[in-house]
Amino acid sequence: MHTENKDREDLAHIVINTNASIIVPTYKEVQNIPFMIDRIQRLRETLKVDLELIFMDDDSRDGSVEAVARAGFDWVRIIVRTENRGLSAAVIDGFRAARHPILICMDCDLSHPPEKIPQMILALGSGQQFVIGSRYVPGGSTDDDWGLFRWLNSAVATLLARPLTSARDPMSGFFALRKADFDRAQDLNPVGYKIALELIVKCGFENVGEVPIHFANRAHGESKLTLREQLKYIQHLRRLYIHQFGNAMHFLQFMVVGASGVVVNLGVLTILLWLGLPETVSLAGGILVSLVSNFLLNRRFTFSYARENAILPQFLGFLGASAVGMAVNYAVALTLRTQVLVDVPYGIYIAALTGIVCGMVFNFLGNRYLVFRKRYVEK
Ligand code: GDD
Ligand code: MN
Repeated sequence: MHTENKDREDLAHIVINTNASIIVPTYKEVQNIPFMIDRIQRLRETLKVDLELIFMDDDSRDGSVEAVARAGFDWVRIIVRTENRGLSAAVIDGFRAARHPILICMDCDLSHPPEKIPQMILALGSGQQFVIGSRYVPGGSTDDDWGLFRWLNSAVATLLARPLTSARDPMSGFFALRKADFDRAQDLNPVGYKIALELIVKCGFENVGEVPIHFANRAHGESKLTLREQLKYIQHLRRLYIHQFGNAMHFLQFMVVGASGVVVNLGVLTILLWLGLPETVSLAGGILVSLVSNFLLNRRFTFSYARENAILPQFLGFLGASAVGMAVNYAVALTLRTQVLVDVPYGIYIAALTGIVCGMVFNFLGNRYLVFRKRYVEK
């Protein structure tokens, strides 16, 4: 059985000497606020370092402001936000307002044990860039009454983030990092709930440490994690994948479109040959028709960030950029057919396919860097 006392005993042996800012996003947490302040106060007394506590409240109007005032501590503040609401945005604003060199983020519902903060700060001191209060490393746990659905949900969300970070619990809302590293972060896009994952990916943190925690059930009130927030996660993942794997993601989509182009190309070739046109013309016809289908599909998917741009100049650019690839394709195919594969069965198809592969590499490079240039950077 897990107890708070056990966490507190562990604390007795830890000495830290860095001040830290604890940022707590809140929405209608008035019932939990006095308990949070109390837990952090006890931690301050044990540690003898300066901890500031900032509640980042999205205009709850439930007496939260009064509850903080009633406590009457100069190291506790509440900042009321009225614009750009949302959990991640609130956390980012809080990190900006923080005064100390170490930043901690945690829920207000007492599901995250503040007693683990010293260990997290120590881990930052010993080479970690980002430290998670983690449910999924040995020693970590959650209260028993997590239903199957919540467990499965969390497991799937975590699995989908696996290519982005090897951390076991990147979904955690309990984490620590240095203010200096946060200040350097660029392109932060505070969408949804997964602010830790956003920071790990956008700051490029490689050394991510995890301190096991016991994740308790929320003390009072209800979770604000709605289904809508969960769906936003998929959108968030797509952005993070593009951020992380940029060119590779584009190239992968380009390859898939290219594969469809191969089918179109060979299909048209077959039809034109069947109609009795000469091979020289049929090869060219296959290339041209697939060029148009590739253009339309790439505009829709691969380079969707440039979809707003005018289509005609883009198509001319696509033709221009593909001209070299097209010429390479046609030249290779025709040379192979007339010089090498003269009497080979299906020689015309082998020639056409080889031409396609050779043309493709040229096409990708030309389009990526010339035609579908970025107007703005997608985050
Ligand atoms: N300022 C602000 N604005 N705070 C918010 C908002 C908002 O729109 N929505 C939620 N919060 C606050 C809550 O008041 C709470 O203190 C904290 O953010 C986390 O919200 P919960 O409602 O407690 O979320 P949860 O417990 O279901 O989800 C937690 O665990 C997840 C992993 O299982 C959070 O820590 C998530 O970040 C985490 O992914
Ligand atoms: Mn919570």
